[in-house]
Amino acid sequence: MKKRRYHWITFGLIIFLVFFLGWEAPLQARPKKTDKYPPETLFDTLPNPPFHLHPLLAPPIPPYNLQTPAKVALGKMLFFDPRLSRDNTVSCATCHNPEHGFSDARPVSIGIDGQKGTRNAPTIFNVAYNKTHFWDGRAGSLEEQALGPIQNPIEMGEDLNRLVQKLNGVPGYVEAFKKVFGTGVTADGIAQAIAAFERTILSNNSPLIDLWQAMITH
Ligand code: HEC
Repeated sequence: MKKRRYHWITFGLIIFLVFFLGWEAPLQARPKKTDKYPPETLFDTLPNPPFHLHPLLAPPIPPYNLQTPAKVALGKMLFFDPRLSRDNTVSCATCHNPEHGFSDARPVSIGIDGQKGTRNAPTIFNVAYNKTHFWDGRAGSLEEQALGPIQNPIEMGEDLNRLVQKLNGVPGYVEAFKKVFGTGVTADGIAQAIAAFERTILSNNSPLIDLWQAMITH
């Protein structure tokens, strides 16, 4: 009879893991009093846009860069803006093009002045779940990664100070940064907003995920 009890303990443990640990992700995303830019509503603090995702499926959101709809919108604007490159011709989306699954359908990427890179551009679908970035895993966070291609001489070739100055001359950006970060355009803000946008690029509307989600929530 003793053996049977172990089944209940295992069962209880599984329920505990699913429901308790499963809810931990959104709890982490709640604003703390000490957060510099507290989101305005609880809605703002949920991983965005996959609010509909069960917490077990939602990607982890770092507490130092919470998702808000305004931040994600700003990141999207930056991601698609060629003004982030030295000669205003190459955006992140040039090589991570949604029409090509957020990649560029080339063996190696082409940056400013038609320069060829040495590596293939990976998709950025689901990068929110990755613990390290790039083929060799050399970047640890999306925030850390985002400023790399901007300054890379064969990708976007732009100087960060020049870029910050350039974007501070665009009223739309000045307004958006003020709303999201309470500051003018900064390099950190650019990195955070782009990373927040990237965390929303999820392949969560596939039939498999729908099925998985249905199994977890019903
Ligand atoms: C000229 C083409 C090009 C541009 C422009 C570019 N990327 Fe990339 N991206 C690449 C290539 C190539 C890699 C792989 C590099 C490597 O692994 O060393 C990569 C890798 C990445 C990764 C890592 C993906 C993974 O699975 O590890 C992310 C995230 C990313 N880029 C985001 C961005 C963002 C954000 C921008 C704009 C600020 C940007 N990229 C601009 C070509 C580009």
